[in-house]
Amino acid sequence: MSLDDVLQAKKATPTLPDAQTVTSVTHYTDRLFSFRCTRPQSLRFRSGEFVMIGLMGDNGKPLLRAYSIASPSWDEELEFYSIKVPDGPLTSRLQHIQPGDPIILRPKPVGTLVLDALLPGERLWMLATGTGIAPFASLLRDPETWEKYQQVIVMHTCREVAELTYGRNLIEALQDDPLIGELVEGKILYYPATTREPSENMGRVTDNLLSGKVFADLGIAPLDPAIDRAMVCGSLGFNKDIKAILEESGLREGANSAPAEYVVEKAFVD
Ligand code: A2P
Repeated sequence: MSLDDVLQAKKATPTLPDAQTVTSVTHYTDRLFSFRCTRPQSLRFRSGEFVMIGLMGDNGKPLLRAYSIASPSWDEELEFYSIKVPDGPLTSRLQHIQPGDPIILRPKPVGTLVLDALLPGERLWMLATGTGIAPFASLLRDPETWEKYQQVIVMHTCREVAELTYGRNLIEALQDDPLIGELVEGKILYYPATTREPSENMGRVTDNLLSGKVFADLGIAPLDPAIDRAMVCGSLGFNKDIKAILEESGLREGANSAPAEYVVEKAFVD
């Protein structure tokens, strides 16, 4: 091995703070799973942000993808919610991780799906498809969300009923959470829906907003930029279509540097 090779190998090997350990794994469907891992003591993040995580590739280089942190900022571990893509370079391997396995985590959280990027408001809409529920799993368990808003409306749409399980379990557990159970009481409206399998609520988030069905079903007033704030996380097509609806309703896109009425993030791994 030449000196160059040695230096190259050193570069590719994650330094100690980047190696974490998987603590639990839960599979929901043949396409979806979640896992928890240890958290670097130095890692501080805002609920809703994402980090790069992954595994060591066969070529000795880290194979990393952006993942929203699904656990709240106060949790001593980190949680992630992932799709399994059969031929996906990372998720085809990541889906087989077991407790005790190492995982690489770059401790540099970033993202726009944060409470700071929104102006004060009364109702907070969390609009998600598929694994786009992950950042909301973090925000829903953050006391700040409940202190800042009088009502939180979660619209999550998946193709099939089983794909709603992760979000449904999380929302059902909120009421019993010792930290935020009391804060949540009477403030959450949950609107799960499917598009390709019959369930109580059918239809895309976009269609249910445009037709007014969601407002009628939940018995609430339509979107109003004076009181409504929204966070959006789904596929590129979903994000684009939702943005158009929100803009049409008078909401403007915000950012960390210029808070406004809504923020958008792509659900990363696909
Ligand atoms: P549909 O079944 O009508 O395509 P996916 O698994 O493809 O990411 O989709 C997850 C969910 O997001 C599905 O219910 C899908 O509905 C919905 N969806 C996909 N694209 C859009 C879009 N542009 N607007 C609204 N919903 C969408």
